[in-house]
Amino acid sequence: MNIEIVEDYPALSASVAQRVIDTLTRKPNALICIAGGDTPLGVFDALVRASEEGKVDFSHATFVGLDEWLGLGKADKGSCREMVWGHFFSRLTLRDEQICFFDGLTTDPAQECRRVDRFISEHGGIDTIVLGIGMNGHIGFNEPGAAIDTECHVVDLDEVTQSVSVKYFGQARDVKQGISLGMKTILAAKSVIVMASGEKKAAIVARTLRSDIDASIPATLLKNHPQVQMLVDKPAATLL
Ligand code: F6R
Repeated sequence: MNIEIVEDYPALSASVAQRVIDTLTRKPNALICIAGGDTPLGVFDALVRASEEGKVDFSHATFVGLDEWLGLGKADKGSCREMVWGHFFSRLTLRDEQICFFDGLTTDPAQECRRVDRFISEHGGIDTIVLGIGMNGHIGFNEPGAAIDTECHVVDLDEVTQSVSVKYFGQARDVKQGISLGMKTILAAKSVIVMASGEKKAAIVARTLRSDIDASIPATLLKNHPQVQMLVDKPAATLL
């Protein structure tokens, strides 16, 4: 796994945003996937700015969601959809058909998985995926013990994920399952970027880099990808 350490969060966000822009410059109709959560918020800002400045054109791009909390919809504060829409999609001029995002309120999660998998395969696979890393090493909602050969699937959320979720929701919520792209789909992306920021991520970043491929730290499964790039800021690199 290649690692690049940059000075701080703004530099991290700018560097990841530039990689997304490079993908779209090479391939204007690329399929892009960017995680929800706190880590990519600066990337969203940088991409919106680049769009306003005419440095990137999203009009031919398509986007697919990475994951969602089952039971939460777009109106629920802290749902992945609410975060990615609020911070990114709603600030660009995109057509509905450019976006495929999980409906966490679906009554048929298996069908929802098939819908998202179909969207990805109809678009020739993901070109660039931007991932965060959970405190327990999860990738998307591929939790410790995750299999490497999964496509989109329903997940029982790890206790760490359930407790960390309060930071998004602003209150404790009884969300025990998620829906997520699987490791097989993530590893099939042409370019995989995993980003981490802040001292709180230093331990999991160090464990991921030092460990062999081991499903108990799902981020290590990314080492099966030939060109995965980890980008971290200096605080997240303090234990390296
Ligand atoms: C969110 C997601 C999660 C987060 C991870 C890190 O869509 O897929 O895997 O990327 O939990 O979350 P933050 O960025 O909030 O530290």
